[in-house]
Amino acid sequence: MTLAGRWTAALDDLRGKGRYRAFRAPAGIDFTSNDYLGYGPQCQPAVTPDLPRSGMSSRLLRGHHAVWDEVETMAAAWHGAESALMMTSGYAVNEGLISAVAEPGDWVAVDERSHACIIDGLRVARPRKFLFRHNDLNHLEDGLRAEAAKRPEGRELFVVTESLFSMDGDAAPLRETADLCDRYDAHLIVDEAHTTGCVGPRGSGTVDAAGVRGRVLATAHTGGKALGLPGAYVCGSKLLKEFLTNTCRHLIFTTALPAAVGAWWREQIPRVQADDAARRRLHENAAGFRAGLARHGITPGGRDYVVPVIVGQDEPSVRAATELQARGYDVRAIRPPTVPAGTCRLRVSVHADHDPAVLSQLADAIAGVLRP
Ligand SMILES: Cc1ncc(COP(=O)(O)O)c(C=O)c1O
Repeated sequence: MTLAGRWTAALDDLRGKGRYRAFRAPAGIDFTSNDYLGYGPQCQPAVTPDLPRSGMSSRLLRGHHAVWDEVETMAAAWHGAESALMMTSGYAVNEGLISAVAEPGDWVAVDERSHACIIDGLRVARPRKFLFRHNDLNHLEDGLRAEAAKRPEGRELFVVTESLFSMDGDAAPLRETADLCDRYDAHLIVDEAHTTGCVGPRGSGTVDAAGVRGRVLATAHTGGKALGLPGAYVCGSKLLKEFLTNTCRHLIFTTALPAAVGAWWREQIPRVQADDAARRRLHENAAGFRAGLARHGITPGGRDYVVPVIVGQDEPSVRAATELQARGYDVRAIRPPTVPAGTCRLRVSVHADHDPAVLSQLADAIAGVLRP
């Protein structure tokens, strides 16, 4: 078979399974993006004539500018961490962090629903891997206990989880996970992609809300969701930052974000910290929408502003999403490989700036398309 033939067959296979993907420009009311605080429509880069325009290179060459020191100091202070290190995306942060800190021979336990960039970090680092059942502390402890009992000298144990699971809308039991990590001398890494800005004191995330900052090795935070910004950072100790600066391939071997993006971060962090009103609206809207679904006897997964309504198979979930889109609601179907086969879903992302009346109409519309 030719290469073109191989690709065509793969695409035909996806079509046959109802998993073919294509771009669709935004249309209708946004219930899809992770713009939880509603900043997207207003978010523009700062006008910064004083900032350097040059430096298209790695941060370790001319790509580093003083503005990034300021942003990293602000971010670290926000989360009560010793340091923060900015990279180009949450994908880069998670893959880069995990592949830098875990070595072959180390052991890494990962929640089975973790994001692809966490899994890809493990593919690169190739430590021994233990996928524990989603949010199952007993299963995690089984793995930790067995591993700790036979742990060779100099081999490290890590546990990686997400603060809010992006496709399930549920939260990891962080305090209990930190307790297990303490008991078995494992290092905890938490991806706060979907909680940064939305949860915790001044929106700093669930690690801070749970009071376990001093017990985590690192947290990952992206600007690409609630903050409405390009870029992402890792928080941890000064030593971790120094180590990543010298070893993390996603920092070293890529072009830095432009300094103007740093100026944008510098404006946005204080705005997000102060915006308790948006956080309140976000959680109220989520509760209202879930109540609207409950009135129709629909129980979505999770418990806050990421609202998955499980449909099951691929075709019916795409059909339901298409019908909602035709009614003006931009809701998308989530299919494998993003979620396990047979658990295709409509994923509704509730935002702070959604009109509660429209959320209620969307709940009615979802009930209508699922039970015509
Ligand atoms: C849980 C989680 N972590 C990390 C990422 C990657 O973040 P970014 O979009 O900034 O690359 C995503 C984005 O989809 C995510 O959902």
